[in-house]
Amino acid sequence: MNASPPIPEGPDRRAALAREIEARTGLDDAVIERFLRAFYGAARADALLGPAFANVADWERHIAAITRFWGSVALMRGGYHGQPMQAHAHLALTPAHFARWLDLFERVARAELTEEGAAHMLDRARRIARSLEMGLVPLPLPAATRRMAQGSPA
Ligand code: HEM
Repeated sequence: MNASPPIPEGPDRRAALAREIEARTGLDDAVIERFLRAFYGAARADALLGPAFANVADWERHIAAITRFWGSVALMRGGYHGQPMQAHAHLALTPAHFARWLDLFERVARAELTEEGAAHMLDRARRIARSLEMGLVPLPLPAATRRMAQGSPA
């Protein structure tokens, strides 16, 4: 039988999980950074997403922060302590922005990563994008509630 070694309990657990993910997906910090540079290159050139990135003052700082973010999310490294919800609050993002972001992320991931690596990143990207979208994009109120809020009878 070709059983993999058991994942240890205790402090070595995180490192063992990270090694297991790296071996299975081909992802590591350098691979993730290269992928993110390609993704953000495409996002800046995109007609819908580009304007939202126009005010990023320091791209190397953004790439460094986002590489730490994905290291935490995808490789269980820890080390990212930012607040993604706040970082997007002023951008007036719409569902169309999220759909395009995910579409582009998927295309670049499939071009740059192994099949398992792309699937691993995409699974997490979809979940995080959904929770950001739910936190950032106001839901339209049902019509009756809207009328009441405007002071008209329901
Ligand atoms: C929907 C389209 C999106 C747009 C237009 C967008 C744009 C931006 C911009 C302009 C910033 C600030 C960069 C800076 O000033 O340094 C930012 C930060 C960030 N974005 Fe997005 N974003 C989008 C979706 C997402 C999604 C889906 C994720 C995660 C899966 C994500 C992860 C992050 C993170 C982690 C930061 C904060 C980095 C830090 O801590 O400095 N973004 N984004």
